[in-house]
Amino acid sequence: MHVSSGGVSPQQKIPVGPGYQLPLARQVREASGLTTLGVGLITQAAQAEAALQNGDADLVALARAFLYNPRWGWQAAAELGGTVQAMPAYWRCLPKEAQAAFGNVRIGMR
Ligand SMILES: Cc1cc2nc3c(=O)[nH]c(=O)nc-3n(C[C@H](O)[C@H](O)[C@H](O)COP(=O)(O)O)c2cc1C
Repeated sequence: MHVSSGGVSPQQKIPVGPGYQLPLARQVREASGLTTLGVGLITQAAQAEAALQNGDADLVALARAFLYNPRWGWQAAAELGGTVQAMPAYWRCLPKEAQAAFGNVRIGMR
């Protein structure tokens, strides 16, 4: 279940802020037991991870953060110590602080 507040009517008064729809996802998750996806101004890697760890949702998704920064996932992996798969053509692009983000890839001599 992907939980959003809709935003289909100007009569809706939805307080907007970081993670503003996560409480809705939590309510649906707790009441239904369904696998639940939370959204709503999730912009930081630690914020996304916290939403998963504290049980707001089973998954999170981001829209506007990815429209602004299509490499958000790579950067989040680097920040959280995770890995992502990338085509070999990208392997040289990681800055030093993010070297582990593509896992154990080798690019030969520099
Ligand atoms: C360009 C754009 C169009 C969207 N259109 C709709 C829409 O028509 N109806 C809707 O319920 N949500 C719409 N959304 C909201 C998304 O479904 C999603 O719930 C939300 O963008 C995720 O939160 P985030 O953008 O804060 O990460 C739209 C989002 C974007 C970025």
